[in-house]
Amino acid sequence: EVEPSNLESVVKGISKMNFDGFNITKPYKIEIMKYLDEVDEYARLIGAVNTVKISNGILKGYNTDGTGFLRSFRENAGVEIEGKNVFILGSGGAARAIAITLALNKVKKIYICNRTFEKAAALSSDVNKLVNCHAISMEYGDMKNAINDSHVLINTTSLGMFPNINESPLNKNLLNENLIVCDIVYNPVKTKLLNDAEEKRCKIVPGLPMLVYQGAESFEIWTNISAPIDVMFKAAEEASLQRA
Ligand code: ATR
Repeated sequence: EVEPSNLESVVKGISKMNFDGFNITKPYKIEIMKYLDEVDEYARLIGAVNTVKISNGILKGYNTDGTGFLRSFRENAGVEIEGKNVFILGSGGAARAIAITLALNKVKKIYICNRTFEKAAALSSDVNKLVNCHAISMEYGDMKNAINDSHVLINTTSLGMFPNINESPLNKNLLNENLIVCDIVYNPVKTKLLNDAEEKRCKIVPGLPMLVYQGAESFEIWTNISAPIDVMFKAAEEASLQRA
């Protein structure tokens, strides 16, 4: 854990150590960009970095969250994302990566709803600059009609994460059985949102596969070696069981 006022000195310190790279997680995926020498084009488009590679003292930022999510969705949802309407809760670093990646993968409409409306508005404006997608930002109070118009709902907020496992980002009566409900929270593996969604007979996509896939892609960026996905899944599942 790093205090906000120490972020710059921690990043500078790491660059002087013998590391090939590191991951960044909440809440620094956007702020970290200030302290990097280079940012890969896709991460720049997203506006957030979760992976840094260090080569000869040069720090370069990448983003593997969006592609990690997409791979998990493709494997677990049983449908293609293309042409779908998607409702995203949250507008932080992970939401940015997912929204931009889905827009590039031809979803039809993206509703973006966040506690801080200005961040939802900024993200939807960025998504709307990309072709073939229409993003709409909204306040928490206005989500009902947007959810009814969506095929996929994705929670990117930390609501429901351990230790607050009885929290959910929305009332379960807003869910309907036609929705595919995805949560990027992976601790617990099945969040209250996902339990509520199953009760409402929705298809669910948990956060653990996204965690593994984004990590696998980071591993490949650092090492140029194919990631041992099976080993990574086994370790992630064992760690989840131990926590439970
Ligand atoms: P990450 O990198 O995982 O996306 P982040 O950039 O810190 O993390 O973003 C966290 C997201 O969760 C934000 O959208 C945040 O809302 P705000 O923009 O209003 O801060 C949302 N979030 C976190 N705690 C929340 C809470 N208690 N209620 C509603 N939204 C919350």
